[in-house]
Amino acid sequence: MERPFGAIADAFAPDAVGHPVRLRGWVLRSRSSGGILFFVLRDRSGSVQVTGRRDVLGDATFDAVEHTQVEGALAVEGTVAEDRRAPGGREVRASAITVVHAGEPFPIFAEQTEEFRLDQRHLVIRSQEHVATFRIKAEFLRACREFFDREGVLEMTPPILSGNAAEGGAEAFQIDYFGRPGYLSQTAQLYLEALLFPHERVYALTPSFRAEKSRTPRHLTEFLNLEVELAWCDLAGLLDFMERMVVDVVHTVAERRPRELEQLGRPPAELLAIRAPFPRLKYADAIDRLVAQGFPVKFGSDLGTAEERALTLESKTPLFVTHFPRELKAFYMLRSASDPRTAEAADLLAPEGYGEMIGASCRETDIDRLLERIRAIGASVEEYAWYLDLRRHGSVPHAGFGLGVERVLRWMLRREHIRETTPFPRTPARHTP
Ligand code: 4AD
Ligand code: MG
Repeated sequence: MERPFGAIADAFAPDAVGHPVRLRGWVLRSRSSGGILFFVLRDRSGSVQVTGRRDVLGDATFDAVEHTQVEGALAVEGTVAEDRRAPGGREVRASAITVVHAGEPFPIFAEQTEEFRLDQRHLVIRSQEHVATFRIKAEFLRACREFFDREGVLEMTPPILSGNAAEGGAEAFQIDYFGRPGYLSQTAQLYLEALLFPHERVYALTPSFRAEKSRTPRHLTEFLNLEVELAWCDLAGLLDFMERMVVDVVHTVAERRPRELEQLGRPPAELLAIRAPFPRLKYADAIDRLVAQGFPVKFGSDLGTAEERALTLESKTPLFVTHFPRELKAFYMLRSASDPRTAEAADLLAPEGYGEMIGASCRETDIDRLLERIRAIGASVEEYAWYLDLRRHGSVPHAGFGLGVERVLRWMLRREHIRETTPFPRTPARHTP
């Protein structure tokens, strides 16, 4: 019986030297000289140098492998050997090679323009940088789900297509839904609020769409929104939950993916140094601080990229900004009892100037106040009819948040542009490939 295919990483096991292996994968680079082929083969577990001799492989095989391109696919049988000159000190000496797909010349090179690389994104995502990025992203999502499991927060599957434009309408992508208007979801929040009544603690990981022509390094038109809704929760409880979650998830990723983090220029120790509690700054105090730094802002001004950056540029820990003016925030946010000008809301800003990564608030439970806010923003009461019903049947205090997955990763992975944290970025300029 044929030996099953093994993982390339197994060739580096302590006792692998001298043992036969059967591997398959893609060619990272190759050359030949003096009747010997040298190539580096990669699979999902790692990469290894393979050597093949013309006198062992035979002319036909040798020539076929020699003509295999970068990113061509090969299957190799051979023996693991020590070799000080090979990366990792090991190589596989091939006894037989099958060309699975010789491939065409791979069109991606280091020095190409960013636009070209975005056009070729379907191939560029094979790069070592992207491999590390998306392994970390998967680890991040896994760590979040594990955290929610431990906390008894249940995963829900709200719709992406809706007849409502949830957060007000201006930034919603409208679609033709069999002749009626439909929208791509900007947030799952309203649906999570409905699901909270039977389940009390719920979350959803769904794409959110924003039709904003924001050409900034932190805006996508489609991003992953990780949203949580908790019953019987006030602002203090909400901040505490978010803080525990961020510390837990960031530490878990740092512990499980140290090599990939190093590879992307983020020493895991920097992430392991993140500790609760995160400092909390009231919006009004943030304004004072910004005025002192020379920003032309006053109570009521929105905090944009520059302001958020100034508040966190020197810090290594995330920062909560709380109690925003109600007019700046969504209609469903709870009015603060202590200062009716403000909402029981918080944004979590990333360290090092990366800006908002979570938007959070307590929700208004009183139907009349909600109606007043819906009218104040000029939205249609009919459109929110089902949402208003939630305040007619056992309305209880609750709160929630949305974490922008790519925003968090941009900070964790120190990426200049948010598009590097998603395989096929959607921006105003591009929705292909
Ligand atoms: O602050 P936002 O708009 O809040 C909501 O959607 C709430 N309904 C969430 C909730 O309470 N359930 O978005 C949540 C987060 C932001 O903090 C930010 O990290 C990210 O989503 N985000 C974006 N990420 C990338 N590109 C964009 N255009 C983003 N807009 C928001
Ligand atoms: Mg926000």
